[in-house]
Amino acid sequence: MFAMRVLTLDVNGDQQETAAPDHWTLLEILRYRLGLTGSKQGCDKGDCGACTVLVDGKPVLSCLTLGAEAQGCSVQTIEGLRPAHLKRSEAVEGTATGGIDPVQDAFDRCGALQCGFCQPGMMLSARALLDRTPNPNREEIQKALSGNLCRCTGYTQIIEAVETAVAESVGADAPRPSWVEDRVHLREEAL
Ligand code: FES
Ligand code: FES
Repeated sequence: MFAMRVLTLDVNGDQQETAAPDHWTLLEILRYRLGLTGSKQGCDKGDCGACTVLVDGKPVLSCLTLGAEAQGCSVQTIEGLRPAHLKRSEAVEGTATGGIDPVQDAFDRCGALQCGFCQPGMMLSARALLDRTPNPNREEIQKALSGNLCRCTGYTQIIEAVETAVAESVGADAPRPSWVEDRVHLREEAL
């Protein structure tokens, strides 16, 4: 019989109280107590970053974080990612437009996914970076995402998606994606 603990967490702006075995990780509580399955259980040992969530605004690996460590903290999962200006009630009820975070929008438009398993962690790591460094360079983006592994897309379009979100957030022109360059190159070769 495991010792149980009652935890109080602020998850995506909602106050949550839940009881879970003492040894459960934050990831297990999010997925199996609160039903927030957007945070993925990939390696479950700190290697892949698929379980990344923001705790008090900082990216953490929820598979390596005990639930008790998050007691009283503010936790943001992919389900709670939305534009900063959008109130939670508007996002939930769909009463306002622009209900997805610019990072999510850029990932979508840049085709920065295949199976999508890595995306929640990637996008939350990117959001945390942009919140602390609004205009990061490519090296800073690569470093911020270095703990998030993608098994199928490769990283070029993911980095470009973050660069697109950055450019648009500071009013600059978005960089032309490499796949557009590749197509232009192929077309020129075919002529
Ligand atoms: S599931 Fe947490 S790092 Fe892989
Ligand atoms: S899109 Fe499949 S793991 Fe990244």
